[in-house]
Amino acid sequence: MESPLTIVILAAGLGTRMKSRKAKVLHQAGGKTLVEHVVDTALELTAPASIYVVVGHQAGEVRNTLASRGVQFAEQTEQKGTGHAVLCCESVVRERTGRVVVLYGDVPLLKACTLRRLIELETRSAAAAAAISTFLDDPTGYGRMLRNERGEVVAVVEEKAASTEQRQIREINAGIYCFDAPLLWKHLHDLRPDNPARELYLTDMVEILNRRGHSVLPLVVDDSSELLGINTRVELAAVDRILRQEKVRQLMLDGVTIERPETVTIDSQVQIGMDTVVEAFTRILGNSRIGADCRIGAFSIVSHSTIEDSVLVLPYTIINTSHVETGTQLGPYARLRTENYVEAGAHIGNFVELKNTRFGKGSKASHLAYLGDSVIGEKVNIGAGTITCNYDGKKKSQTRIGDGAFVGSNSTLVAPVEIGEGSYLAAGSVITHAVPPNALAIARGKQLNKEDWARRRREGTLRAPDANIENS
Ligand code: UD1
Ligand code: CA
Repeated sequence: MESPLTIVILAAGLGTRMKSRKAKVLHQAGGKTLVEHVVDTALELTAPASIYVVVGHQAGEVRNTLASRGVQFAEQTEQKGTGHAVLCCESVVRERTGRVVVLYGDVPLLKACTLRRLIELETRSAAAAAAISTFLDDPTGYGRMLRNERGEVVAVVEEKAASTEQRQIREINAGIYCFDAPLLWKHLHDLRPDNPARELYLTDMVEILNRRGHSVLPLVVDDSSELLGINTRVELAAVDRILRQEKVRQLMLDGVTIERPETVTIDSQVQIGMDTVVEAFTRILGNSRIGADCRIGAFSIVSHSTIEDSVLVLPYTIINTSHVETGTQLGPYARLRTENYVEAGAHIGNFVELKNTRFGKGSKASHLAYLGDSVIGEKVNIGAGTITCNYDGKKKSQTRIGDGAFVGSNSTLVAPVEIGEGSYLAAGSVITHAVPPNALAIARGKQLNKEDWARRRREGTLRAPDANIENS
């Protein structure tokens, strides 16, 4: 029979070495906060009701970040060490039997399969606890594992308290433990702040359990990159790089072509379909979904957006919180700012900006336009330089353009305004009133040609008032 499993995640520290006003566990790597990585790993092993996150620094933000996961919380108002943090959830967790796994919120690459091995090691043996260790070429900053002749761990000595010989030990404590629950709660109160930092170190539990005649077993993990703890921004960048590499590798194995994969940034939740090509230096972020047979051009940024199959995104295009249907072509240098819906087969060309706009099937805006708060029908042609004047300084208004309308170049559409289907707007028009379906609208100054004016000006024979260009 499987014994119950409780997971406690320590996430209350500020992280002084990050030199940040933001709590360390809220910093991001691979597009997710550190604490989200750890919680998501925990969720692979047990239900949210059995996961307790100890919060302190910016507790509100940490709770908000994790709200959708449905996990439990405990407060550590003063950060008096990792042992003290576990004590802070004793009252809520103590009732639970079985095993307690303790994880640190700043060790984000840990895999669920490694945790399963740790739990199995502890469960199958008579040991009171098991802890993950690994051998590092440079163990600086980590606690070191002290072993007895039977290979069990008898103590963890922190860097600050370690003797010169102990600092030579390359086997480090990863900060991941599986405890027999009753023994943990029985002895946790024996922790004493007898160290230079005057904190209660969870790592001292190893020595305490040994003194009471219990053994602690190490699980040595060969791939130490999985156990990287983040204390500085340099380590944050290293973990981010590992997560990005894993993501692009998985996408390539699933049939996505990625050019120069070391240059692209793809968040962990992103999905991309088969035979899509992702060019160098692109960023695909958040919960974006990209279909099959697409091409995402170099230096493009796609965030929180859905792109259906067979879409061509040319270089330097920015797409944010938008939906793009199949067979469309965007860019180069297009910007879908927020909340746009582009229907099938449409073309959005260079230096065209869309905001809160629905752009109809097969319609085209090939160059230099701003379309904001607008609803554009099917097979509409938007000429170069078209501007929707959606803002009067106080409120935003809508522009509606019917199917098959032709909007001449450099048209100014003063919203709210409605352009009827099949109508034609003369280039350079300032449209302030509704245009009926199938009409031609011309709204601009009439042209006047003054014969010979330029030649006479050159010769100096123009008489006033014609000589003054302003009056001409
Ligand atoms: C800790 C271990 C060390 C191990 C290393 C692995 C201790 C005493 N030392 O050191 O042996 O090699 O992790 O990465 O445990 N936290 C709280 N409340 C506190 C203090 C810390 O919630 O009062 C949380 C932090 O938010 C962090 C985690 O515990 O997520 C680890 O704390 P940190 O100060 O980074 O410990 P290390 O010095 O790295
Ligand atoms: Ca740490």
